Amino acid sequence: YKKLKDFRSDFLWGASTSAYQVEGAWNEDGKGLSVMDMGHHPEGLADFKVTSDHYHHYKEDIALLAELGLKAYRFSIAWTRIFPEGTGKINEKGLEFYKNLIDEILKYGMEPIVTQYHFDLPYALHQKGGWSNRATIDAYVDYVKVLYDNFGDRVKYWLTINEQNMMILHGAALGIVAPGTENIEKEIYQQNHHMLLAQAKAITLYHEMKLPGKIGPAPNITTIYPETCNPDDVIAAMNWTSIRNWLYLDMCVFGRYNSIAWSYLEERGWTPNIEDGDMAILGAPLAKPDFIAFNYYSTATVAASRNDGSDKAAGADQQIVSGEEGVYRQGENPSLKLTSFGWTVDPTGFRSTLREINDRYNLPLLVTENGLGEYDKLEEGDIVNDDYRIDYLRDHIEQARLAVNDGVDLLGYCPWSAIDLVSTHQGFGKRYGFIYVNREENDLKDMRRIKKKSFGWYNKVIGSNGTDL
Ligand code: BG6
Repeated sequence: YKKLKDFRSDFLWGASTSAYQVEGAWNEDGKGLSVMDMGHHPEGLADFKVTSDHYHHYKEDIALLAELGLKAYRFSIAWTRIFPEGTGKINEKGLEFYKNLIDEILKYGMEPIVTQYHFDLPYALHQKGGWSNRATIDAYVDYVKVLYDNFGDRVKYWLTINEQNMMILHGAALGIVAPGTENIEKEIYQQNHHMLLAQAKAITLYHEMKLPGKIGPAPNITTIYPETCNPDDVIAAMNWTSIRNWLYLDMCVFGRYNSIAWSYLEERGWTPNIEDGDMAILGAPLAKPDFIAFNYYSTATVAASRNDGSDKAAGADQQIVSGEEGVYRQGENPSLKLTSFGWTVDPTGFRSTLREINDRYNLPLLVTENGLGEYDKLEEGDIVNDDYRIDYLRDHIEQARLAVNDGVDLLGYCPWSAIDLVSTHQGFGKRYGFIYVNREENDLKDMRRIKKKSFGWYNKVIGSNGTDL
């Protein structure tokens, strides 16, 4: 018997949210519109106007998160509250909201972990070309400078862009390219290049200002399995790993394009234009992150193309190659169960993902999302028996502990989500929180906060530093 290594004594047991999914108050106190406010909402599902109304309930919500025992709370700042037009004049009321929120978090001794940009690009910038326009890079840097100036003394953990890789891989679906664009994928990878530059500049600026904290990226990273041990399937899995995962982190950490991903782009005529000086910005020593944050929910399995007309995209992951015959086909993984929403549940894949990132980059890691979306049921007497969520989280924390034992320097674990909020595409019915919010898709009811069974369980986990699961 060998005793497992413990989680660090200062382990950041946390939980996460994002501004547009939890705050509501979509047009209050001077907030500008974001692409999420203007986006298409699936029929019958909640929009992003009121969500969990955290904007008006933040004191109550933070008190509950303190009672949950959190050491850290990860949230995002809405760019459009600070700069309603994305750039130009600062909206003081927006700054004030986040100043109050951060004070409230600190009051309870919790550590704020702040995402600078979580999908909600200001619509005014989108109208001027969004990330296709290099001016958006400067707007981003101006925006984060305001965050550093105002909160840099008190916020010790900063995340740049949430899931840039998902925005790029779902680019066509999210409508981030202008209608009528000819080579959509090339344009998307041009936008990717600009986001990478914006991120490098934001990290460099943070380091230049010598603020007393750490900063890192927050992509969605997952191990990719080959469907069989056929070597062609192994190559397919390696290719997809580079395109989906390493393209983003190699640039952030090493300042270079991953060669496999670059070849993939070259073969298709999708490489971005790189201007003089870009690679120096991307490779600047101060642009290197202090840690890598990542979101993890499930794994994907791919196979080489069979070139027989049966290829299809490998899950939600591969929208960009969907229909691209001769590239990949979706693999089946018979060893994994699926959630009610069709996502694979793979705790061991969490361990392998932690190990892979650690091996490749040798930096501390921070898990910024992990969790289970379900149709929770509110029972008589304000009870929510979300045992399935407890099982999911327990299995993943166990594997995180094994990864720590394998030598991964894990700074913390922030499940999605702290409190119920609106899912990206699947409304309010797909709940993730430790705290139930009493509303339905289109009926706001009383928005009462109710502790789920997982609330008490997670409190106990935190109290035992992850030993009592
Ligand atoms: C991540 C996002 O992709 O997964 C979150 O960063 C999102 O914003 C979460 O809510 C869960 O996905 P979904 O689609 O179930 O809301």
